[in-house]
Amino acid sequence: MAVKLTKLIVLLVTSIPIFLPLSSPSTTYTTLNQGSSLSSPGDVLVSSPSRVFTAGFYPVGDNAYCLSIWFTRARAVVWMANRDHPVNGKATKLSLLHSGNLVLQDAGLLPVWTSNTAASTAAVALRLLDSGDLVLGSKENSSHVIWRSFDSPTNTLLPGQPLTVNTKLTSSTSPTNHSSGFYKLYFDNDNVLRLLFSGSDLSSVFWPAPWKASWESGRSTYNNSKTAVLDRRGGFSSSDDFKFKTSDFGAGPRRRMTLDADGVLRVYSWRRKWEVTWQLPVPPCSVNGVCGVNSLCTYSTYSSAGLGRSCACLPWHRAKNVGDWSEGCVPDFDRIPRCDSADVFLRISHTEFYGYDIGFDQNKTLEECESICLSYCDCRGFQYKFDWGAGVYNCFPKTLLFNGLQSTGFDSPFYLRLPPSSSSWSETKPLPLQLQCNNSVVELERVYTRENKYGLLRSLAWSAGVLGAVEVVCVLVFLYKTRACGEKLRDQSFIQVATGFTRFTYDDLKRASRSFSEEIGRGGSGVVYKGVLADDRVAAIKRLNEASQGGGEEEFLAEISLIGRLNHANLIQCWGYCAQGRHRLLVYEYLRNGSLAENLASNKLDRAKQFEIALGTAKGLAYLHDECLEWVLHCDVKPHNILLDDNYKPKVADFGLSKQLKRSDRVENLDMSLIRGTRGYMAPEWVYNLPITAKVDVYSYGVVVLEMVTGKSPKEIDFDLVDEDTSSSSVSDGIEECDGLKNLVRVALQCAQEKSDARPSMREVVHMLLTH
Ligand SMILES: *[C@@H]1O[C@H](CO)[C@@H](O)[C@H](O)[C@H]1NC(C)=O
Ligand SMILES: *[C@@H]1O[C@H](CO)[C@@H](O)[C@H](O)[C@H]1NC(C)=O
Ligand SMILES: *[C@@H]1O[C@H](CO)[C@@H](O)[C@H](O)[C@H]1NC(C)=O
Ligand SMILES: *[C@@H]1O[C@H](CO)[C@@H](O)[C@H](O)[C@H]1NC(C)=O
Ligand SMILES: *[C@@H]1O[C@H](CO)[C@@H](O)[C@H](O)[C@H]1NC(C)=O
Ligand SMILES: *[C@@H]1O[C@H](CO)[C@@H](O)[C@H](O)[C@H]1NC(C)=O
Repeated sequence: MAVKLTKLIVLLVTSIPIFLPLSSPSTTYTTLNQGSSLSSPGDVLVSSPSRVFTAGFYPVGDNAYCLSIWFTRARAVVWMANRDHPVNGKATKLSLLHSGNLVLQDAGLLPVWTSNTAASTAAVALRLLDSGDLVLGSKENSSHVIWRSFDSPTNTLLPGQPLTVNTKLTSSTSPTNHSSGFYKLYFDNDNVLRLLFSGSDLSSVFWPAPWKASWESGRSTYNNSKTAVLDRRGGFSSSDDFKFKTSDFGAGPRRRMTLDADGVLRVYSWRRKWEVTWQLPVPPCSVNGVCGVNSLCTYSTYSSAGLGRSCACLPWHRAKNVGDWSEGCVPDFDRIPRCDSADVFLRISHTEFYGYDIGFDQNKTLEECESICLSYCDCRGFQYKFDWGAGVYNCFPKTLLFNGLQSTGFDSPFYLRLPPSSSSWSETKPLPLQLQCNNSVVELERVYTRENKYGLLRSLAWSAGVLGAVEVVCVLVFLYKTRACGEKLRDQSFIQVATGFTRFTYDDLKRASRSFSEEIGRGGSGVVYKGVLADDRVAAIKRLNEASQGGGEEEFLAEISLIGRLNHANLIQCWGYCAQGRHRLLVYEYLRNGSLAENLASNKLDRAKQFEIALGTAKGLAYLHDECLEWVLHCDVKPHNILLDDNYKPKVADFGLSKQLKRSDRVENLDMSLIRGTRGYMAPEWVYNLPITAKVDVYSYGVVVLEMVTGKSPKEIDFDLVDEDTSSSSVSDGIEECDGLKNLVRVALQCAQEKSDARPSMREVVHMLLTH
């Protein structure tokens, strides 16, 4: 093939061909002239003079190639001509014809792809510019261009490459399969830049949030120029007013903006490897279609694909293609459409399906809503949602179950319509959601070896004495020993920047906090300062002291990427971090109403607020504990770590600094000096060296709630009077003014049981609080 190439008289404008090692029969060009061709997979065209980009045949499978442009060193493909029609490696040819047409041919057959161009009188040549643009244009006049790859992007925009009304980005099918996938970034008719999921049966826009007006998302519909561009410094601006800057804003690294196969738009910067320096701040499950139809998405920090979510079929459904969740699930029963008025409904709590409503019926009882759904043959179930404004329940029957999300953040249940024969299902059976990862769960031992005769008080005294109770935050992340649920994540470059998570420089934070002048809190792990960020957001900046910093930067980033991914209304949000030299800082949202501890001290909370705080805190902890593939134990639940926002909505704080257990470590081997809670709130397991499970947080939660409702500190609460049969305990007898409160106390007492097995899970606590 090399022989054939040399026969073509290749006229090189800027340099002579640079031959690769002789063993490889390939040629490197900087210009392709009329009448010449690239004809073996090894022949490439490089950008001149820097050789940053290479164009040629990129292997996409066994003996399958696509005409592509990629970063020479970083091996990231930025453009493909024939992504959906790869060509054979043999006899494949890209020719620049004398007519001025650029043609890709597969084994002598018809052209697979052409540029559809014709040269005018002037001679044309194909050149790859340093911007990454492959340009077909006049040899004499470089501004005379007849075709350029920048005008037909695939899934990537390079700095300086505009996205226009005529172009769109289309994701790949998967990180390894480059064919056209399901997501598109484009300018819509109303001049707004949007992300669309376009599956085989369904398509829907998911960004900006479709339930909001454009202006509510900060978008303008007035400028019809429809252009968006990422500049060289990492600033992106679109004519609809959408703008952002990458976290490493400034001249420097090579960048690319890619619509990834998971529907998330990201900017990557090259620093010996690709790092995510910005990504579209949409929660992982709000990307439409990720789990397909009849399926539920849950947030899961260490999901198998490292995407911050996992998918599972609805009960009585099975996955169509386990390798590709976007195909969704199909029912295991055959009668569809089902028009049987004997159909039953299965309640699935904390679940919402978005869109595809048949109608909307206000103020309906559950029975009314069921019969509305039964009256439509194609009703697959309904959302039953309480409208806090109107104080009534609303009914949303649905024809299609798409965009399903299960999260402890949702109060409203979904009712799934099933054939009568399936009535044996009940909610107490675990959903497949949990089953999905059961093979990977390492069950922690729960045997309670030593009975404690002296009751809880004794153990509390012990905990104070033995541990000295330093206020050290401790979050234990027990990574389950599993192939499916973890390991891979670490090599994903985007682990380092989670959704909406910013990397700050030390100077940024020093400036924001006016040289760390206003201290607002202090704990074993560090001091918290108030600060105002460059974008005027008020933040709580936690400066970790050296003792609580584990290893190097990598380790720190791995730990905090977890915090950044946790996203729940009842967890304090972490906006970013700084890891520079010896400095380790975390930036959190700042809540003005202080901690529960301060509010308890000043006696400002009425019963309704107390209930909301108990419920919200339970939801936050349930989210930490329950998200499928791992446990995040807080280990230091106490009133100081429950912050209140302007509406007294609680947010659990300080679930941040984790001590991640390596796979080989067993819980028993934990160095006890690392495990410190706060006296009074600590579960007996700590003292007796029993296996630590999520139930330690449940215990602390119970004590906090009791403290809140009784107004007594943990040391004053008379646990000795707490009976096993908690409903008749003296604590609850003391407070009988309302049923809700009684229920709250009953639940709290159950949480504070000495035996960990007797305590409910946080998810059960949420359920118990909501159903009374
Ligand atoms: C080069 O091409 C551009 C665009 O076609 C044209 O406007 C310009 O006049 C040409 N310059 C010369 C010197 O021919
Ligand atoms: C890539 O995905 C496309 C579309 O789903 C499929 O037809 C094709 O077979 C896949 N290619 C490989 C190599 O898996
Ligand atoms: C419309 O957007 C373009 C590109 O961002 C900008 O240059 C132009 O000034 C805008 N026009 C108006 C009227 O704002
Ligand atoms: C809801 O419906 C019930 C019974 O139909 C009615 O008594 C009640 O007033 C309604 N409530 C509202 C807020 O419309
Ligand atoms: C989950 O566990 C059950 C019972 O232990 C088992 O039958 C089932 O196959 C497991 N599921 C998976 C996905 O391994
Ligand atoms: C707490 O929030 C309420 C309601 O927004 C406000 O009136 C009150 O002043 C706040 N308390 C503090 C201490 O800021």
